Amino acid sequence: MNANEQLRSLIKSHRSIRRFQSKVVPQSIIDDLVECARWAPSSHNVQSYSIICIRNQQTKEKLDKLCGNQSYISQCPVFFVFVMDFYRHAVISSAYQTSFEIEETENLLIGSVDTALVAENFLLSARSHGLGGVMIGGIRNEAEEVAKLLKLPKWTLPIMGMCVGYPDQHPWQKPRITKSSIYHEEYYQTDNLNVDLAKYEHITEDYYTNRTNGKKTDGWGKQMSVYFSKVRRAKLTKFIKDQGFSLK
Ligand SMILES: Cc1cc2nc3c(=O)[nH]c(=O)nc-3n(C[C@H](O)[C@H](O)[C@H](O)COP(=O)(O)O)c2cc1C
Repeated sequence: MNANEQLRSLIKSHRSIRRFQSKVVPQSIIDDLVECARWAPSSHNVQSYSIICIRNQQTKEKLDKLCGNQSYISQCPVFFVFVMDFYRHAVISSAYQTSFEIEETENLLIGSVDTALVAENFLLSARSHGLGGVMIGGIRNEAEEVAKLLKLPKWTLPIMGMCVGYPDQHPWQKPRITKSSIYHEEYYQTDNLNVDLAKYEHITEDYYTNRTNGKKTDGWGKQMSVYFSKVRRAKLTKFIKDQGFSLK
């Protein structure tokens, strides 16, 4: 395989890893992951993110609880928190004595997108070293408590966590939504959506039934309908506002 094929194969063989060997991840590898992450593109080049590396067992255990009892956070050798970060920009604006108009919703989007791009670079680079991982949106469950624990300053938000380590499992790959549902030429097309969704429902019903020996049988559509039938993270909006983003 040449380098391009290797890259495409790495991307297409993605699966989240939630069980890890106890083997330590050397700091030299983490340094390389950070280096690769730093080269993600950034909106207006604002580079509005920070990465916090956590090896301390007690901190991981606290985060495990705060993320809704996700035990792989305690179990993984190293956990990262990807933080949307405009604190540096506040410091700069103060130094240049300019006004700091950060509150608008646009900046929240810029910062979350920047942070997500960095996180995906990080995960792909980790996989290229034989590591595996899973992103953890549960870090926003108790964002205020996480912020206290990690001493996050104003104008920052934890966007996602990431468990990283040497995989101790090789899970089945989760089938993705069909290309025809997500790819449109020239304009947004809905004509075949119901047929495409029905196909994906069958594919995912089979996948979950086989993977769980019949314990879980709902397809993706059913799962999504349940997921979006409830309010999630109702406390988050207040915390986002408290951190300096009025969402105006
Ligand atoms: C931003 C983000 C947050 C996620 N949060 C969690 C999480 O809190 N807990 C978890 O077990 N998986 C989490 N995941 C992993 C997804 O559940 C997973 O990517 C999805 O089910 C598809 O499975 P796959 O990654 O194995 O292909 C998250 C993924 C992303 C992109």
